[in-house]
Amino acid sequence: MSDAATDMSAYWDRAGRVWVEQQALLDRIYQPIAKAVVDRADLRAGEAVLDVGCGSGATTFEAAWRVGPEGRAVGADISGALLELARRRAGEQGLESVDFVHADAQTHDFGAEFDAIVSRFGVMFFPDPVAAFANLRRALRPGGRLAFVCWRSPEDNPISQVPLEAAAPLLSEVPKFERNAPGRFAFADPERVSAILDEAGWRDVAIEPLDDPTPVTAEELMTMSLRVGPLNPILSNADAALSARVREAVAEALSPYVEDGGARMNSACWLVTARR
Ligand SMILES: C[S@@+](CC[C@H](N)C(=O)[O-])C[C@H]1O[C@@H](n2cnc3c(N)ncnc32)[C@H](O)[C@@H]1O
Repeated sequence: MSDAATDMSAYWDRAGRVWVEQQALLDRIYQPIAKAVVDRADLRAGEAVLDVGCGSGATTFEAAWRVGPEGRAVGADISGALLELARRRAGEQGLESVDFVHADAQTHDFGAEFDAIVSRFGVMFFPDPVAAFANLRRALRPGGRLAFVCWRSPEDNPISQVPLEAAAPLLSEVPKFERNAPGRFAFADPERVSAILDEAGWRDVAIEPLDDPTPVTAEELMTMSLRVGPLNPILSNADAALSARVREAVAEALSPYVEDGGARMNSACWLVTARR
Protein backbone atom coordinates (compact mmCIF):
# COMPACT_ATOMS: atom_id res chain seq x y z
CA MET A 1 0.00 0.00 0.00
CA SER A 2 1.13 3.57 -0.66
CA ASP A 3 1.61 5.91 2.33
CA ALA A 4 -1.65 7.71 1.51
CA ALA A 5 -3.54 4.41 1.31
CA THR A 6 -2.01 3.25 4.61
CA ASP A 7 -3.06 6.55 6.25
CA MET A 8 -6.63 6.17 4.96
CA SER A 9 -6.76 2.55 6.10
CA ALA A 10 -5.57 3.54 9.61
CA TYR A 11 -8.01 6.46 9.65
CA TRP A 12 -10.96 4.19 8.77
CA ASP A 13 -9.94 1.52 11.25
CA ARG A 14 -10.42 4.15 13.94
CA ALA A 15 -13.39 6.01 12.40
CA GLY A 16 -15.00 2.67 11.50
CA ARG A 17 -15.28 1.84 15.21
CA VAL A 18 -17.42 4.95 15.70
CA TRP A 19 -19.64 3.93 12.76
CA VAL A 20 -19.96 0.46 14.34
CA GLU A 21 -20.97 2.01 17.66
CA GLN A 22 -23.53 4.32 16.01
CA GLN A 23 -24.71 1.86 13.33
CA ALA A 24 -28.42 1.87 14.31
CA LEU A 25 -28.64 5.67 14.33
CA LEU A 26 -26.64 6.11 11.12
CA ASP A 27 -28.72 3.46 9.37
CA ARG A 28 -31.95 5.17 10.31
CA ILE A 29 -30.78 8.64 9.31
CA TYR A 30 -29.24 7.58 6.01
CA GLN A 31 -31.66 4.80 4.98
CA PRO A 32 -33.58 7.04 2.52
CA ILE A 33 -30.25 7.84 0.86
CA ALA A 34 -29.38 4.13 0.44
CA LYS A 35 -32.77 3.64 -1.13
CA ALA A 36 -32.30 6.60 -3.50
CA VAL A 37 -28.90 5.41 -4.72
CA VAL A 38 -30.06 1.83 -5.24
CA ASP A 39 -33.22 3.05 -7.02
CA ARG A 40 -31.09 5.09 -9.37
CA ALA A 41 -28.82 2.12 -10.15
CA ASP A 42 -31.94 0.51 -11.63
CA LEU A 43 -30.99 -2.95 -10.37
CA ARG A 44 -32.78 -5.97 -11.82
CA ALA A 45 -33.30 -9.46 -10.42
CA GLY A 46 -30.30 -11.71 -11.03
CA GLU A 47 -27.75 -8.89 -11.46
CA ALA A 48 -24.38 -8.60 -9.71
CA VAL A 49 -23.78 -5.34 -7.81
CA LEU A 50 -20.73 -3.95 -6.00
CA ASP A 51 -21.16 -1.53 -3.05
CA VAL A 52 -17.99 0.55 -2.64
CA GLY A 53 -16.99 1.69 0.86
CA CYS A 54 -19.91 -0.41 2.12
CA GLY A 55 -19.29 0.19 5.83
CA SER A 56 -21.62 -1.98 7.91
CA GLY A 57 -23.56 -2.98 4.78
CA ALA A 58 -26.86 -1.02 4.78
CA THR A 59 -26.63 -0.19 1.07
CA THR A 60 -25.33 -3.67 0.20
CA PHE A 61 -28.40 -5.17 1.89
CA GLU A 62 -30.74 -2.75 0.08
CA ALA A 63 -29.07 -3.79 -3.21
CA ALA A 64 -29.28 -7.49 -2.29
CA TRP A 65 -33.05 -7.28 -1.87
CA ARG A 66 -33.34 -5.76 -5.36
CA VAL A 67 -31.20 -8.34 -7.18
CA GLY A 68 -32.84 -11.19 -5.26
CA PRO A 69 -31.51 -14.65 -4.44
CA GLU A 70 -30.44 -15.26 -8.08
CA GLY A 71 -28.32 -12.11 -7.98
CA ARG A 72 -25.20 -11.17 -6.01
CA ALA A 73 -24.36 -8.16 -3.85
CA VAL A 74 -20.74 -7.61 -2.80
CA GLY A 75 -19.67 -4.95 -0.32
CA ALA A 76 -16.05 -3.76 -0.34
CA ASP A 77 -14.40 -1.76 2.43
CA ILE A 78 -11.01 -1.08 4.01
CA SER A 79 -12.27 -1.10 7.60
CA GLY A 80 -12.03 -4.52 9.25
CA ALA A 81 -14.27 -3.41 12.14
CA LEU A 82 -17.10 -2.37 9.80
CA LEU A 83 -16.80 -5.51 7.66
CA GLU A 84 -17.05 -7.71 10.73
CA LEU A 85 -20.32 -6.01 11.64
CA ALA A 86 -21.56 -6.18 8.01
CA ARG A 87 -20.94 -9.95 7.87
CA ARG A 88 -22.70 -10.49 11.17
CA ARG A 89 -25.73 -8.48 10.00
CA ALA A 90 -25.90 -10.41 6.70
CA GLY A 91 -25.98 -13.65 8.75
CA GLU A 92 -28.73 -12.29 11.01
CA GLN A 93 -30.85 -11.38 7.97
CA GLY A 94 -30.21 -14.76 6.33
CA LEU A 95 -28.91 -13.05 3.19
CA GLU A 96 -26.98 -15.70 1.26
CA SER A 97 -26.46 -13.69 -1.93
CA VAL A 98 -24.27 -11.16 -0.04
CA ASP A 99 -20.48 -11.19 0.29
CA PHE A 100 -18.04 -8.76 1.84
CA VAL A 101 -14.42 -8.22 0.81
CA HIS A 102 -11.69 -6.41 2.68
CA ALA A 103 -10.26 -4.33 -0.16
CA ASP A 104 -8.93 -0.92 -1.10
CA ALA A 105 -11.37 -0.02 -3.87
CA GLN A 106 -8.75 2.22 -5.44
CA THR A 107 -6.51 -0.67 -6.44
CA HIS A 108 -8.28 -4.00 -5.80
CA ASP A 109 -8.88 -6.20 -8.86
CA PHE A 110 -12.61 -6.95 -8.66
CA GLY A 111 -12.71 -8.74 -12.05
CA ALA A 112 -15.10 -7.47 -14.75
CA GLU A 113 -18.02 -9.19 -13.05
CA PHE A 114 -20.53 -6.56 -12.03
CA ASP A 115 -23.59 -5.07 -13.72
CA ALA A 116 -23.67 -2.08 -11.40
CA ILE A 117 -21.66 -0.24 -8.75
CA VAL A 118 -23.38 1.67 -5.96
CA SER A 119 -22.02 3.68 -3.04
CA ARG A 120 -23.45 5.73 -0.22
CA PHE A 121 -20.75 8.15 0.96
CA GLY A 122 -17.97 5.59 0.24
CA VAL A 123 -16.07 7.14 -2.69
CA MET A 124 -14.79 10.52 -1.42
CA PHE A 125 -11.70 9.23 0.37
CA PHE A 126 -9.46 8.11 -2.48
CA PRO A 127 -6.03 9.79 -2.54
CA ASP A 128 -6.06 9.38 -6.35
CA PRO A 129 -9.72 9.55 -7.43
CA VAL A 130 -9.04 9.25 -11.18
CA ALA A 131 -7.08 6.01 -10.64
CA ALA A 132 -9.79 4.75 -8.28
CA PHE A 133 -12.67 5.40 -10.66
CA ALA A 134 -10.68 3.90 -13.58
CA ASN A 135 -10.17 0.81 -11.41
CA LEU A 136 -13.88 0.66 -10.49
CA ARG A 137 -14.83 1.00 -14.16
CA ARG A 138 -12.86 -2.20 -14.84
CA ALA A 139 -15.07 -4.02 -12.31
CA LEU A 140 -18.10 -3.57 -14.60
CA ARG A 141 -19.27 -5.56 -17.59
CA PRO A 142 -19.76 -3.55 -20.79
CA GLY A 143 -22.73 -1.18 -20.34
CA GLY A 144 -22.48 -1.41 -16.53
CA ARG A 145 -23.95 1.41 -14.39
CA LEU A 146 -22.50 3.54 -11.60
CA ALA A 147 -24.67 5.33 -9.00
CA PHE A 148 -23.29 7.00 -5.89
CA VAL A 149 -24.11 9.65 -3.35
CA CYS A 150 -21.58 12.14 -1.97
CA TRP A 151 -21.89 15.29 0.13
CA ARG A 152 -22.47 18.75 -1.30
CA SER A 153 -20.51 21.63 0.28
CA PRO A 154 -20.19 22.40 4.01
CA GLU A 155 -22.20 25.57 3.28
CA ASP A 156 -25.06 23.40 1.97
CA ASN A 157 -24.85 21.27 5.13
CA PRO A 158 -24.83 23.94 7.87
CA ILE A 159 -26.17 21.68 10.61
CA SER A 160 -23.04 19.52 10.33
CA GLN A 161 -20.75 22.58 10.50
CA VAL A 162 -22.34 24.38 13.46
CA PRO A 163 -20.84 22.04 16.12
CA LEU A 164 -17.30 22.49 14.79
CA GLU A 165 -17.66 26.27 14.66
CA ALA A 166 -19.11 26.35 18.19
CA ALA A 167 -16.31 24.17 19.59
CA ALA A 168 -13.44 25.90 17.73
CA PRO A 169 -12.83 28.76 20.24
CA LEU A 170 -12.44 26.19 23.04
CA LEU A 171 -9.93 23.97 21.23
CA SER A 172 -6.23 24.44 20.60
CA GLU A 173 -6.43 22.63 17.28
CA VAL A 174 -9.41 22.36 14.95
CA PRO A 175 -9.47 20.06 11.92
CA LYS A 176 -9.08 22.18 8.80
CA PHE A 177 -11.37 21.61 5.87
CA GLU A 178 -9.36 21.44 2.64
CA ARG A 179 -11.41 21.81 -0.49
CA ASN A 180 -10.92 18.87 -2.90
CA ALA A 181 -8.73 16.91 -0.45
CA PRO A 182 -9.81 13.28 0.24
CA GLY A 183 -12.52 13.41 2.88
CA ARG A 184 -16.17 14.01 3.48
CA PHE A 185 -16.48 17.06 1.20
CA ALA A 186 -13.98 16.00 -1.50
CA PHE A 187 -16.74 15.82 -4.12
CA ALA A 188 -18.63 18.95 -3.13
CA ASP A 189 -17.78 20.57 -6.48
CA PRO A 190 -19.83 18.83 -9.20
CA GLU A 191 -17.54 20.08 -11.97
CA ARG A 192 -14.63 18.34 -10.26
CA VAL A 193 -16.63 15.11 -9.94
CA SER A 194 -17.57 15.28 -13.60
CA ALA A 195 -13.94 15.90 -14.64
CA ILE A 196 -12.68 12.99 -12.52
CA LEU A 197 -15.23 10.58 -14.01
CA ASP A 198 -14.54 11.80 -17.56
CA GLU A 199 -10.80 11.34 -17.09
CA ALA A 200 -11.36 7.87 -15.63
CA GLY A 201 -13.23 6.88 -18.82
CA TRP A 202 -16.88 7.00 -17.67
CA ARG A 203 -19.62 8.28 -19.99
CA ASP A 204 -23.13 9.74 -19.63
CA VAL A 205 -22.16 11.38 -16.32
CA ALA A 206 -25.17 13.02 -14.62
CA ILE A 207 -25.14 14.85 -11.29
CA GLU A 208 -28.26 16.03 -9.49
CA PRO A 209 -28.94 17.36 -5.99
CA LEU A 210 -30.52 15.08 -3.43
CA ASP A 211 -31.81 16.47 -0.13
CA ASP A 212 -32.97 14.29 2.69
CA PRO A 213 -34.42 16.19 5.67
CA THR A 214 -34.57 13.28 8.11
CA PRO A 215 -36.09 14.07 11.54
CA VAL A 216 -33.88 13.41 14.57
CA THR A 217 -34.33 13.95 18.30
CA ALA A 218 -32.26 16.66 19.98
CA GLU A 219 -30.23 13.90 21.65
CA GLU A 220 -29.53 12.18 18.31
CA LEU A 221 -28.43 15.51 16.89
CA MET A 222 -25.94 15.86 19.75
CA THR A 223 -24.69 12.29 19.16
CA MET A 224 -24.18 13.01 15.45
CA SER A 225 -22.40 16.26 16.35
CA LEU A 226 -20.10 14.95 19.08
CA ARG A 227 -19.62 11.21 18.38
CA VAL A 228 -19.75 11.02 14.56
CA GLY A 229 -17.62 13.49 12.63
CA PRO A 230 -14.54 15.59 13.23
CA LEU A 231 -15.11 16.45 16.90
CA ASN A 232 -14.99 12.80 17.96
CA PRO A 233 -11.20 12.25 17.85
CA ILE A 234 -10.59 15.57 19.62
CA LEU A 235 -13.07 14.87 22.40
CA SER A 236 -11.82 11.30 22.88
CA ASN A 237 -8.52 12.79 24.05
CA ALA A 238 -10.00 15.73 25.98
CA ASP A 239 -10.45 15.86 29.76
CA ALA A 240 -13.94 15.80 31.27
CA ALA A 241 -14.05 19.56 31.94
CA LEU A 242 -13.21 20.48 28.34
CA SER A 243 -15.64 17.87 26.97
CA ALA A 244 -18.41 19.34 29.13
CA ARG A 245 -17.69 22.88 27.93
CA VAL A 246 -17.68 21.77 24.28
CA ARG A 247 -20.93 19.88 24.81
CA GLU A 248 -22.54 22.98 26.30
CA ALA A 249 -21.31 25.25 23.49
CA VAL A 250 -22.50 22.81 20.81
CA ALA A 251 -25.94 22.39 22.42
CA GLU A 252 -26.30 26.17 22.60
CA ALA A 253 -25.28 26.66 18.95
CA LEU A 254 -27.67 23.94 17.78
CA SER A 255 -30.62 25.25 19.79
CA PRO A 256 -32.02 27.38 16.89
CA TYR A 257 -32.36 24.14 14.89
CA VAL A 258 -34.30 22.33 17.63
CA GLU A 259 -38.03 22.63 18.10
CA ASP A 260 -40.18 20.50 20.45
CA GLY A 261 -37.19 18.24 21.23
CA GLY A 262 -36.46 17.43 17.58
CA ALA A 263 -34.69 18.76 14.47
CA ARG A 264 -34.47 18.16 10.74
CA MET A 265 -31.01 16.88 9.93
CA ASN A 266 -30.91 17.71 6.24
CA SER A 267 -28.34 15.77 4.23
CA ALA A 268 -27.50 17.87 1.16
CA CYS A 269 -25.92 15.49 -1.35
CA TRP A 270 -25.15 14.90 -5.01
CA LEU A 271 -26.60 11.83 -6.66
CA VAL A 272 -24.15 10.89 -9.39
CA THR A 273 -24.72 8.38 -12.20
CA ALA A 274 -22.55 7.24 -15.11
CA ARG A 275 -22.01 4.33 -17.48
CA ARG A 276 -18.96 2.25 -18.20
C1 LIG B 1 -18.67 7.57 5.41
S1 LIG B 1 -18.42 5.84 5.48
C2 LIG B 1 -19.84 5.21 4.62
C3 LIG B 1 -20.11 3.75 4.92
C4 LIG B 1 -21.37 3.17 4.27
N1 LIG B 1 -21.34 3.26 2.84
C5 LIG B 1 -22.61 3.80 4.84
O1 LIG B 1 -23.19 4.68 4.18
O2 LIG B 1 -23.00 3.44 5.96
C6 LIG B 1 -17.13 5.63 4.27
C7 LIG B 1 -16.68 4.21 4.10
O3 LIG B 1 -15.74 4.15 3.02
C8 LIG B 1 -14.72 3.23 3.39
N2 LIG B 1 -13.53 3.51 2.56
C9 LIG B 1 -12.77 4.63 2.58
N3 LIG B 1 -11.77 4.52 1.68
C10 LIG B 1 -11.92 3.31 1.07
C11 LIG B 1 -11.19 2.62 0.07
N4 LIG B 1 -10.10 3.16 -0.51
N5 LIG B 1 -11.60 1.40 -0.31
C12 LIG B 1 -12.70 0.83 0.28
N6 LIG B 1 -13.42 1.44 1.24
C13 LIG B 1 -13.04 2.67 1.63
C14 LIG B 1 -14.54 3.45 4.87
O4 LIG B 1 -13.88 2.40 5.53
C15 LIG B 1 -15.99 3.63 5.32
O5 LIG B 1 -16.59 2.44 5.67
